[in-house]
Amino acid sequence: MNIIIRDTYEEMSKYAAEVIASMIREKPDCVLGLATGSTPVGAYRELARMHKEEGLDFSRVRTFNLDEYLGVGLDMTMPYEMDQSYARFMYEEFFKHVNIKKENIFLPDGLAEDPDEFCRAYEEQIKRVGGIDLQLLGIGCDGHWAFNEPGSSLTSRTRVEALTKQTLDDNYESFYRKAGISRDQMPHYAITMGVGTILEARNILMMANGKKKATVIAKALEGPVTSQITASAIQLFGGGITVVLDREAASELKNTEHYMHRENLKNAFQPSE
Ligand code: PGA
Repeated sequence: MNIIIRDTYEEMSKYAAEVIASMIREKPDCVLGLATGSTPVGAYRELARMHKEEGLDFSRVRTFNLDEYLGVGLDMTMPYEMDQSYARFMYEEFFKHVNIKKENIFLPDGLAEDPDEFCRAYEEQIKRVGGIDLQLLGIGCDGHWAFNEPGSSLTSRTRVEALTKQTLDDNYESFYRKAGISRDQMPHYAITMGVGTILEARNILMMANGKKKATVIAKALEGPVTSQITASAIQLFGGGITVVLDREAASELKNTEHYMHRENLKNAFQPSE
């Protein structure tokens, strides 16, 4: 597990963007798993800058998003500021700033008529493109990966999941309050990739910033693997792992010195091209 600690949110965002950009350069038709939330916004901005200023090409990249609220989606009949769908978020924060093709964007459909059938089909689509090369992930304050709330099986697949009170509180503060939407009007369910689905990606890039993530990051990375903190499943992951943290999110980790030593060693002994 490469655990990378940077002083600021900007620096960690740049690092994460570089990991994604390297994947795209290496495999221009790679499949990226994408995440919403406030954490990856800086990385998305940096990728948009790389596209504009350095010609980073998204024209063959395929993307699959982790999750979406049930009952919302790209609903054009809804006033723009009321649409809190993750689809809208992705479009605003990322897709419209790069040259990704619409047909290469896959999003869970919160307005699906038969959500269970949709979930099955979503898993099939991921398989059909050959699986996810690099999955970007945040972590919720309750330890969730995507909307795999505490108690979700660590082998779970894409499905409909009920949101915890903690997640509803966090979302209300981050997004809904500003939009003038009451707690009762907020969606209480979501479609989410399962932990088992996520663990089938070839590489994982997990990000966290801020003091409020410090306790849960320490539990997920250094505590026991448990379905009560679904992000702790990262310890079972067999592919490439990069965890990028800012100083505050890393502040309760016990083995920080070793992680930094490891990064320095890696830099010092990088085989020359
Ligand atoms: P955040 O959410 O990036 O808005 O903190 C992360 C998550 O819930 O996974």
